[in-house]
Amino acid sequence: MRWTHAFCIILMTCTLSSLSSSLSINDAQIHYFVAESSTFGPEDFQDDHDNGVEQWQLSKEPAANATGHLVFETVSSLLQHWPNTRYRNGHSIVPGVISPGTLLYHGTNHNVVPDHPDWLATDPEHSHAFCHGTTQAGCWHLTLATTRPLRVLYFDGSSAAKMMGGPLDSQDIVAWGKVRPERTYNERQRIADLCAWGHQYSLDAFIRMEWDFEIMLCNFTSGAKVVSFLNLPELPALEKGIPPSQNQAAFRVLEAINAGHWHDRYPGEERIRLDLTRLISFYDIDLVPSLVADRIGKERWDHRLQGADSADIAAVRRRLARDLVSERLEVSGIDWRTLFRVIIKRYAERLELVQYLLNDANSDSEVFHDEYERAAKVQLQLRIMLTPYILHSSIPIPTSNFSASGLSWPEPVFKECARHTHQQLCLTLALH
Ligand SMILES: *[C@@H]1O[C@H](CO)[C@@H](O)[C@H](O)[C@H]1NC(C)=O
Ligand SMILES: *[C@@H]1O[C@H](CO)[C@@H](O)[C@H](O)[C@H]1NC(C)=O
Ligand SMILES: *[C@@H]1O[C@H](CO)[C@@H](O)[C@H](O)[C@H]1NC(C)=O
Repeated sequence: MRWTHAFCIILMTCTLSSLSSSLSINDAQIHYFVAESSTFGPEDFQDDHDNGVEQWQLSKEPAANATGHLVFETVSSLLQHWPNTRYRNGHSIVPGVISPGTLLYHGTNHNVVPDHPDWLATDPEHSHAFCHGTTQAGCWHLTLATTRPLRVLYFDGSSAAKMMGGPLDSQDIVAWGKVRPERTYNERQRIADLCAWGHQYSLDAFIRMEWDFEIMLCNFTSGAKVVSFLNLPELPALEKGIPPSQNQAAFRVLEAINAGHWHDRYPGEERIRLDLTRLISFYDIDLVPSLVADRIGKERWDHRLQGADSADIAAVRRRLARDLVSERLEVSGIDWRTLFRVIIKRYAERLELVQYLLNDANSDSEVFHDEYERAAKVQLQLRIMLTPYILHSSIPIPTSNFSASGLSWPEPVFKECARHTHQQLCLTLALH
């Protein structure tokens, strides 16, 4: 089993390390690299990664406060409904655009285009749930088409869930400079203050998610034109109860939820295009060190931003302001989203299989005759995964004393695997 264990450490650390390295670039530092690239030469990155044999020691666990894996997961889940439902306390704020010609929908009780900030849905199944009027007059359903690229800011997580406990934290910090639980249900104040703040950066809208993705549009007559404003029948009131009654009103709520599910998995909600080079993550321990202590001993569901101190919040808001004013025409052009997918495609299912093989619950004789067979199966999987990095010279040292033989022989495998994914990227960035 020890042999297997050595390989497992390699793979986990190797994967995590390559992920967190590309991540730490992505996570907030990418624009630092890009903006300050003139101060870095390619050799800085080479030095950085070659420095210290220590970095490649397999016996060294990642720092307890390391968040690379959390940044990786949140970044690779942006705009996807299911992961942001599961982990509802958002940790990312990302600028993006909505392309011209995108249709957006708004349900209301009267036929007047709002002259104040208000909500739109990306799917009419969602906005229709807000089409309420009288039985006599019916309700109104507005369709807008964007006429220019809209500048938006996305809050990840279940950021439209009006509840205590964290989903609204990142918005509160942007709108009010701190988490304001007493304003949890004060949606009008929130949209008004977000839009007032965003005006200085020419932001048109904010993106959030609950049943489905929604757009808080600051000005309905700027960058959008009316396609139609239809008078629809008012549906009979939804009867309370579980399961819901069989009337049409019950189905429209279910259809709104169903529309959210269309965006459950990658690529998620595609009508919003994010600029990952300007992503801000509250898991960035350089930017928000005060949250490190706050997360100790907490399950990931319970991570939130309330514990960030005022100096860190000020730093986040400064970075956001800087990112929103700069046009960043000089970005590297690296397609971070695709790179993340490549890593997930290559390793996710393989790691699940290894986890299954290692799980003690699968130790009955139907799966393995004995522990030797289990070890052999795991080792084969790991070897397959690591094939491109297992050097000709990486040969286990035969010994009866594993600790004496050490982990020095597989360390070059770890190093190659970890460097392979990110080094070229760092060089590319440095050259831009
Ligand atoms: C909304 O945009 C229109 C068109 O650009 C502009 O005339 C109007 O003043 C804006 N409204 C507000 C409240 O800023
Ligand atoms: C994270 O952990 C490392 C190593 O234990 C430590 O040097 C560093 O100061 C910690 N960072 C924060 C923000 O606490
Ligand atoms: C195995 O190696 C370790 C480290 O060199 C040593 O401390 C230990 O005594 C050795 N065990 C045996 C049984 O030789």
